[in-house]
Amino acid sequence: MQIAVVGSGYVGLVTGACFADLGHDVILVDNDQNKLNALRKGEVPIHERFLPELLDKHRGKRIKFSEDLQAATRASEVIFIAVGTPATESGDADMSYVESVAREISGAVDSYKVVVEKSTVPVYTNQWIQTIIRRNGAHPEQFDIVSNPEFLREGTGVTDFLYPDRIVVGVETERSAEVMKNVYGPLTGGWYYGRSDAVPRPDRAQTPPRLIITSAKSAELIKHASNAFLAMKISFINAVASICETVGANVQQVCEGIGTDSRIGPRFLNPGIGYGGSCFPKDLLAFRSVAKESGYDFRLLEEVIRINEEQRHRFLRKVRSVLWTLRGKRLGVLGLAFKGGTDDIRESPALLLVEELSREGCKVCVYDPAAMERAKEALGNGVEFATDAYQAAKGADAVLILTEWEEFANLDLQHLRSVVKYPIILDGRNLYDPAIMTEHGFSYYSVGRPAALCEETAVRATKKERA
Ligand code: UGA
Repeated sequence: MQIAVVGSGYVGLVTGACFADLGHDVILVDNDQNKLNALRKGEVPIHERFLPELLDKHRGKRIKFSEDLQAATRASEVIFIAVGTPATESGDADMSYVESVAREISGAVDSYKVVVEKSTVPVYTNQWIQTIIRRNGAHPEQFDIVSNPEFLREGTGVTDFLYPDRIVVGVETERSAEVMKNVYGPLTGGWYYGRSDAVPRPDRAQTPPRLIITSAKSAELIKHASNAFLAMKISFINAVASICETVGANVQQVCEGIGTDSRIGPRFLNPGIGYGGSCFPKDLLAFRSVAKESGYDFRLLEEVIRINEEQRHRFLRKVRSVLWTLRGKRLGVLGLAFKGGTDDIRESPALLLVEELSREGCKVCVYDPAAMERAKEALGNGVEFATDAYQAAKGADAVLILTEWEEFANLDLQHLRSVVKYPIILDGRNLYDPAIMTEHGFSYYSVGRPAALCEETAVRATKKERA
């Protein structure tokens, strides 16, 4: 099929590259000339596993780049809108990019088109797109609007797309449902999974996925409700972790105990310094706003947001309780991205903590495997930037683990111990078994688990330092 994908951010790029791998012909449309030129030259603007390989494989063949939305619309049967919907001051999603894309599409509807909203949007967006396209001249019989929310996680977007738990398609007509079945046919029919050059299947994947057809409004709500539920799971376990800390229980054991109930499940129950990213914080505000407009006061969401913010403050208090005063203390910070596997620092609790610690007068030296470039822009000269974890930890009063990178879960602890000033680790992501840390001579503070203090060297200068 000929498909246009409008917007080449995280969602648009992954969607376009994956559709090409499914065998469709894709035009990726963006109004940012520089971005398009970079993509044409083979540059990949985001850190996303398998994306460079897919773009290399299909660039100039099944994937073309264009700034001409109207030409792309005329050439395509299906047009996916994957432009940004940033939050406004009040928490509503700013729909002006979606509206202007809809307006432009309208002038190019010369045969039947299916216009698909892929961006995360509030309920009723599908009706608004319909209205805008009609208002600008397209005949109602010549197009349908479909809501097809994405459930891609950054970092694993490509495998999430190709091996999804489910595909949700919200339609109002049979005709558009048939088109969407064809778009996703290679996945739902299992054909893609039999191919020798398919992107490798992750362990969790059940194939082929189910196609869930709903009304457009239900699909719009499914997206917001999914993200709100996942965020609620994280805030729930973070609240439980706080109670564990006060009563001396171990949240890891609690997670195992509750996560083995198949109704609850073990995934997304990792406590930490709170969720971040471009999705959960924004979507929770938008969903709360949607609920309010519909006359429902969704206070549960406010509590989810409050617990999430509190989690970061709790961690800061923990740093203070371990180090006493903060002014002038040297901290080695491991992790800046909002989670492992991505270079995205939007709404990153790690970055917010670094800013807060700097404001408190700490000398912070940071390292992240992928987010350094972006963090340099955001943090400026306020902190030092290291080239690896050990350099960040060099001479540190304490090492803070703030992002769940695999690399940080596999540190050479002996080496780390030899470079720090005091063997103290505060782990905001629970990456280690506390016993392993004490074996290596570290005092180790994590989230929702008893502190593991190292008798010999706890909070004392090393021999070299004392000398
Ligand atoms: C999230 C959803 O998981 C996707 O399904 C959705 O498509 C996407 O938002 C979106 O709306 O576009 P993403 O923001 O990439 O994906 O990241 P997640 O993997 O969901 O993690 C979100 C945050 O929660 C991260 O800061 C992570 O560190 C934190 N987290 C996650 C926890 O603190 N504990 C957990 O158990 C899981």
